[in-house]
Amino acid sequence: MDLIVLPDPADCARRAADLVTDAVEDVGRERRVVLGLATGSSPLPTYRELIERHAAGRLDFSRTTGFLLDEYIGLPAGHPQAYREVILREFAGPVGLDPGHLHSPDGTAADPATAASGYEHLIVEQGPVDLQILGIGSNGHIGFNEPGSPFDSTTRVTRLADSSVADNARFFDDPADVPRQVITQGLATISRARHLLLIATGAAKAAAVAAAVEGPATPELPASVLQRHPRSTLVIDDEAAAHLSSRAAAPQRELSRGSRR
Ligand code: F6R
Repeated sequence: MDLIVLPDPADCARRAADLVTDAVEDVGRERRVVLGLATGSSPLPTYRELIERHAAGRLDFSRTTGFLLDEYIGLPAGHPQAYREVILREFAGPVGLDPGHLHSPDGTAADPATAASGYEHLIVEQGPVDLQILGIGSNGHIGFNEPGSPFDSTTRVTRLADSSVADNARFFDDPADVPRQVITQGLATISRARHLLLIATGAAKAAAVAAAVEGPATPELPASVLQRHPRSTLVIDDEAAAHLSSRAAAPQRELSRGSRR
């Protein structure tokens, strides 16, 4: 697990964007790049940085395939908070990623369980994901694998924890509109990616980050699955690092030199 602690969210965005840029450029020379895309607020500054690099002609996403991590069940297609819409608006559209190569679980399907297993098969068929971008919930979830999700779980229908519903209420006019059911990639699905990149900023993430990095690897703290992955990188800011023992955070500050680009 590589831990990169940087002073603030803007530094994190540049560093995370460097890692995405490396994947897109290196893999893209050989074949289509498969990027795993998280929604939520944590990756937004990284997406904005990537949009700027694209706009400046420095980064080409024409050979990139995207797979979303998760999707709400029950929002009508095109709803502004449906995760596919969010990613189209905040990342895929502005960087010119072909919507035909942007895959997401179908939260409008009449049979969500079948849609979930179909999505798992599609990831197996077109994967593995080269670089999976992740955020972390304040309860330690990744994707919508809530505490208690087995490490060997695959894409499935599940229910949001009450704390996740409360966390996500800020995106909806009425908190009662936050869907309770979702389709999420499982922890085993996520773990098949070649490289996991978790971005966490802000004090609200400090406890979950410390548990994920320094606690036992346990389904009770789903993000701790990153400890078992051969290549996982956490890019976090000082506030999100606040609960880490100084032993864990200190040597990594050596790496905190900002962006190369
Ligand atoms: C979103 C997702 C979630 C979020 C997490 C953090 O696709 O999978 O795990 O990454 O809830 O959300 P933010 O970044 O909004 O704090």
